[in-house]
Amino acid sequence: MRRLKVGHVGGRTGYAHLFNIHPGTELVAICDIDRGALERSRRTLGLKSSQCFQNYDDFLKVDMDIVVIGTPIPFHAEQSIKALESGKHVLSEVTAANTVEDCERLVRTVKKTGMKYMLAENMCYVHFIREWTQMIREGRLGKIYYAEGEYVHQIRHLIRNPETGQLLWRANRPPIHYCSHSLGPLLMMLDDYVVKATASGREANIMPGVGVGTIDMQVAIFETRRGATIKILRSQVVAREPPFHFYTIYGTKGCVENGRLGFRDGVSKGILYIEGEDEVAREVDWQLSDPNAPEEARRGGHGTSEYYLVRDFIDSIVNDTKPPIDVVRGVDMTIPGLIAHEAAMKGNVWLDVPHFE
Ligand SMILES: NC(=O)c1ccc[n+]([C@@H]2O[C@H](COP(=O)([O-])OP(=O)(O)OC[C@H]3O[C@@H](n4cnc5c(N)ncnc54)[C@H](O)[C@@H]3O)[C@@H](O)[C@H]2O)c1
Repeated sequence: MRRLKVGHVGGRTGYAHLFNIHPGTELVAICDIDRGALERSRRTLGLKSSQCFQNYDDFLKVDMDIVVIGTPIPFHAEQSIKALESGKHVLSEVTAANTVEDCERLVRTVKKTGMKYMLAENMCYVHFIREWTQMIREGRLGKIYYAEGEYVHQIRHLIRNPETGQLLWRANRPPIHYCSHSLGPLLMMLDDYVVKATASGREANIMPGVGVGTIDMQVAIFETRRGATIKILRSQVVAREPPFHFYTIYGTKGCVENGRLGFRDGVSKGILYIEGEDEVAREVDWQLSDPNAPEEARRGGHGTSEYYLVRDFIDSIVNDTKPPIDVVRGVDMTIPGLIAHEAAMKGNVWLDVPHFE
């Protein structure tokens, strides 16, 4: 069968590597506005100069089936829409877009063009998240009524270049805008979406005078269509080590959580308690990577997560099925963060969260 041709725009090359080693796909072009970055990617990926583009419109003229969007978030919607309209399937880095209007345009464009779109929310593919999803689908935790997600990671150097002092694109990204790593897996596990949002967090004491990107911490409360409450905590300037992704889920029959010490040797220590099965909570080593994954699965980023994500996206194209994180789900993981920031700025009010399909 013909191999699907893939183009990659932007910096992180992990996905490009994975498409290169998948037997059903081959990398045929890359694009980056920065000449030096383009050359570095070219060498890493073993491409010819004729396969490299600084101009996105020229890049899109290449005969390709799939475009991977790995540029900063402000470019995601525009580049995804252009790619879809030129007949390419799109795998987009998180988050889907910067505004609610662009999220809606994205959903409409996927519908109009009939191309596949998947949001590369890699935390949905972390091994223990997949185990929890299975457990919830089997009803072992009962009806889920409450969940929390926290992504706390000090990345001040990605907000202001420490050598030049130049402000980078993350200076304009409120921390709660980037909540899909926390909210995404929870919505996926609960098969749900957010209908209302409020949030708190406006002050920037750690890096004052920069912009919304350096708000110390933001916390959002969401209500979902099925009636669950979700709390999300986010900071990108915090004085805290190590960085971590934390999740906890409460159901009518039990609860599960991982720890706040990050992954040590690919393990996050946590608990599982199921009434009727356990006297006391079980202490569990929740795994980042699938211990039974093939060797090549570790060549992508973030354990084995990105390998499985790429595999599912390719399968959805080959079998003409809905990608697991299709545009509706991807936008559902993106919009609540946009609305939550607006709610915080308006004085911690509750706002409706739109859902587009
Ligand atoms: N899923 C994850 O775990 C994860 C981790 C890190 C970053 N990301 C996402 O990856 C994306 C890129 O983040 P980053 O830190 O690599 O950003 P970055 O600022 O390092 O930029 C990435 C590259 O894109 C290029 N670029 C910028 N604007 C461009 C344009 N208009 N057209 C073509 N190339 C352009 C830059 O020159 C750079 O080489 C973001 O969406 C971010 O959210 C995801």
